[in-house]
Amino acid sequence: MADFEQKVQIIQLPKFLDERGNLSFLESGKHIPFKIGRCYWIYDVPGGCLRGSHAFKTQQEFIVALSGSFDVVIHDGVEERRYSLSRSYYGLYLPPMHYRTLDNFSTNSLALVVSSAGFTEEDYIRDFDEFIREVRK
Ligand code: TYD
Repeated sequence: MADFEQKVQIIQLPKFLDERGNLSFLESGKHIPFKIGRCYWIYDVPGGCLRGSHAFKTQQEFIVALSGSFDVVIHDGVEERRYSLSRSYYGLYLPPMHYRTLDNFSTNSLALVVSSAGFTEEDYIRDFDEFIREVRK
């Protein structure tokens, strides 16, 4: 496993520029600091809509704007930060227990979420006040 800091960070991905079209990729443990358990993607988001608004108790995530742009708003229990994602050759790494919302989606944006685990509703904290109580314990 590469020596990553397990904190919120933008991670640059390999980028092969080619006149036939560019290529980027990621591998578990090499470009992101976890083993991939699941990928999902968010698309066709109507203007002004939000996605997310929850934290994960144990899952780690890596979020990439494969197309278009959107923002990821992250609260760590102390402060809120906004990250704008707009290129497919970098992404945002999120450790567990960060409350996150995706907003400001551009037309035709495509958000790829790479997660360290399969889907389980038990891993979600959807209520912000509950998140604050849990993260400050
Ligand atoms: P959810 O993560 O709640 O999306 P958002 O936080 O943006 O509202 O996902 C919406 C629904 O989709 C969820 O209730 C169940 C389903 N779902 C799966 O079945 N598997 C998955 O991997 C994901 C991400 C969602």
